[in-house]
Amino acid sequence: MDYQAVLEEVAAHARPYVRQGRVADYIPALERVSADRFGIAVADINGDVYGVGDWETPFSVQSISKTFSLALVMAQSHGGHDSIWQRVGREPSGTPFNSLVQLEAENGIPRNPFINAGALVVTDRLQTLTGDASTSMLHFLREESGNEDLAFDQAVADSEAEHGDRNAALAHFMASFGNLENPVPSVIEHYFWQCSIEMSCRDLAVAGGFLARHGLRADGSRLLEAREAKRINAVMLTCGTYDAAGEFAYRVGLPAKSGVGGGIIAVIPGRCTLCVWSPALDARGNSVAGAAALDHFTTLTGWSVF
Ligand code: DON
Repeated sequence: MDYQAVLEEVAAHARPYVRQGRVADYIPALERVSADRFGIAVADINGDVYGVGDWETPFSVQSISKTFSLALVMAQSHGGHDSIWQRVGREPSGTPFNSLVQLEAENGIPRNPFINAGALVVTDRLQTLTGDASTSMLHFLREESGNEDLAFDQAVADSEAEHGDRNAALAHFMASFGNLENPVPSVIEHYFWQCSIEMSCRDLAVAGGFLARHGLRADGSRLLEAREAKRINAVMLTCGTYDAAGEFAYRVGLPAKSGVGGGIIAVIPGRCTLCVWSPALDARGNSVAGAAALDHFTTLTGWSVF
């Protein structure tokens, strides 16, 4: 496969979609990013990386971090026998990523780890396992991406906290059901820090390589059991793009996780991991040009999980 040629064609196809939609404006630090940006990268399972456009420009990973925090909890829990799945489900929610409504009827157990409530439970577990959830996430992402310069964006983390009432409400509500092990202020702070990490398409495609390698890192060491990588990919497919996961699976046909920074990672098990970035979002919080690019990638290559 001539990845570079495919990516050029994908970028040309996606170009008219760039600027369609709205850049996330719930915090000033995200609103300042230009809607004109577009980048896409592919890391194949042998570690070769290809990219076009703004593929080496760091952006706010936001909810893409939820994939990696789940992976880190699984990796830290030795074989996946941890209790995390007693505290968070694995069904699509069909509701917006920051919705509260299902929690009351479902005893404070979030539907899945990729909506905010579920990610807060995962961060809580990581805090218990490591003693410092956000720092362990940063180290994990540095290691998996090979980029030692990865850092938090303090302005983003601070403004998430300033506008954090909804996440605090989700956390307090779950705590009232006994579904948090750590104090709410500490859980939401680590969650905000983890969302604020800045990474490029290149960094994210490389860091997500273990999902395409059935749990193996680039050097052949094992991060996750194959069945754990399968499970993360399955939950990405069904829950990774918020309440648009059905539509996304229909169009793209790949496990994927988006973030409101405009990034989307997608996995083709056994072949490669992709990351695309363009900041303007549709009404459900997914990058419009990013989804168009992944749609075209699977159309051109014929590669999907189906
Ligand atoms: O929790 C929030 O509102 C933001 N930090 C991140 C959200 C995001 O990317 C959408 N979540 N699933």
